[in-house]
Amino acid sequence: MPKLFIDTVGCQMNVLDSELVVGSLRRQGYELTSDPRSADVILFNTCSVREHAEEKIYSALGTLKGHKEAHPDKILGVLGCMAQKDREIVTRRAPYVDIVCGPGQLARVPELIEQAKATRKKQYAFSLGRAEAGRLEVTQSFESYDPTRDPAMRPTPFQAYVRIQLGCDKFCTYCIVPSVRGPEQGRHPDHILAEVKQLAQEGCKEVTLLGQTVNSYQFHHGDGRKSRLADLLYRIQDVSGIERIKFVTSFPRDMTDDLIQAVRDIPKACKYLHVPAQHGDDVMLQRMKRLYTVAYYKEMVQRCREAIPEVAISSDFIVGFCGETEEQFATCGELIRFARFKNSYIFKYSPRRGTKADQLYQDDVPEEIKKRRNNDLLAVQSEISAADHQRQLGTRVAVLVEGPSKAALKEQGNAAYQEMTQLTGRTMTDHIVVFDGHPRLIGQTVEVRIEEASPWTLFGVVEPMQAEAAQLSQQGPPRDEPIPAGAAYPAKRRLELNLV
Ligand code: SAH
Ligand code: SF4
Ligand code: F3S
Repeated sequence: MPKLFIDTVGCQMNVLDSELVVGSLRRQGYELTSDPRSADVILFNTCSVREHAEEKIYSALGTLKGHKEAHPDKILGVLGCMAQKDREIVTRRAPYVDIVCGPGQLARVPELIEQAKATRKKQYAFSLGRAEAGRLEVTQSFESYDPTRDPAMRPTPFQAYVRIQLGCDKFCTYCIVPSVRGPEQGRHPDHILAEVKQLAQEGCKEVTLLGQTVNSYQFHHGDGRKSRLADLLYRIQDVSGIERIKFVTSFPRDMTDDLIQAVRDIPKACKYLHVPAQHGDDVMLQRMKRLYTVAYYKEMVQRCREAIPEVAISSDFIVGFCGETEEQFATCGELIRFARFKNSYIFKYSPRRGTKADQLYQDDVPEEIKKRRNNDLLAVQSEISAADHQRQLGTRVAVLVEGPSKAALKEQGNAAYQEMTQLTGRTMTDHIVVFDGHPRLIGQTVEVRIEEASPWTLFGVVEPMQAEAAQLSQQGPPRDEPIPAGAAYPAKRRLELNLV
């Protein structure tokens, strides 16, 4: 069996793309390996959102240079956003790469591999640049890539990402995504529903709907009817087997009342919204072209909290964007305190060639200051997260058990799937909970009483499990019992996810 290695950086969209590429290659007889040097085909699914993400890939390619030269028959491929953005640079910096393929052309990967093997020539596949043709033509060159799913390749058998939207039309001035992922397109709701039903039949309990601005989702049926995200949520609520629906990432200006009401009214909808604010100062927001003011953002947060009191909201922030003063930076901390975000992803501004900000503004905040602001803002968020977690002490929460905790996997490896171990899962508000339990709980929803909290994690006890756990510790776990699908899932087959 030919062996395949794939490394993935970037956002959930890339994780899904890798899952689908691996699925299609497995159908062609490939077997996944976690060791690049033992693989016949080595793929990197790349991200361009910050320079760090790109450098990581160039450095990985660099370490494989000698290996590829010693084994010219092996195929080395660069897929995804960096491939679309920098085809020439990839070819110049790593001339030994065989395949360069943008995110809108992934359906062609199996064919490109065959061509590269047969001809020993470089294979390229790209979508059109935003300025290279009219909107329709550019849009069509970003093909919706949603082939039949391979249940074995999902992060877990009971969780799945589902793409509902491609591309982005917001053009925030710092951001490369609209140029590498193309124009915004909503997928047909019937196709989304069919995929969710198929996933449910395969045992999937939680779907996460994906889009760069997922709440801007719309699909025009051509007869005057329009489907929006709220409509999709109501339809997925009726799919039996699905227990939880999440969606990421939301754009603040499109957090409309009908959507908020749908999240409130739909029992399966997670009470969790990821709505990046990016900044707490109006001048910076304007320079970023985020299309809202701080007052608007705050009002939106209040609307969400009034409608759904238990809702958890998370955000992204960029620190050290062009011209950011100390006073302007301080407003980000104020916004975190006001909005009481569950968590925030904080990024140092990284200029991206081809973006408006790179053309119009100076990247004038020194690296040390970006670093310090990043740490300072993390400290504010960590204080707010710790207080949020403290409030949950003593409460009982429903946790969908995802698998052994990171610590358990590190210590026990695959044994963590067989014996009493430390497990991790998430609540309906996306809070991470860690507790002791038998791996047979993986994939189940259990009730956990929260007993301890750190700023990032809640720790608890599965109450009905206490008696059972005591019994198990006397008798040992029932080893002859078949382990449920989730528990049997070997860690090494999971896709590597290196969030950057
Ligand atoms: N579509 C999503 C996510 C886009 S990329 C959204 O609009 O929220 C994920 C995050 O990366 C962004 O939210 C932003 O905070 C950050 N980001 C994007 N471009 C960046 C850049 N040039 N430098 C630093 N961070 C950036
Ligand atoms: Fe980038 Fe803005 Fe689009 Fe998000 S909404 S992907 S930050 S351009
Ligand atoms: Fe995602 Fe990075 Fe591309 S954030 S869309 S993989 S540039």
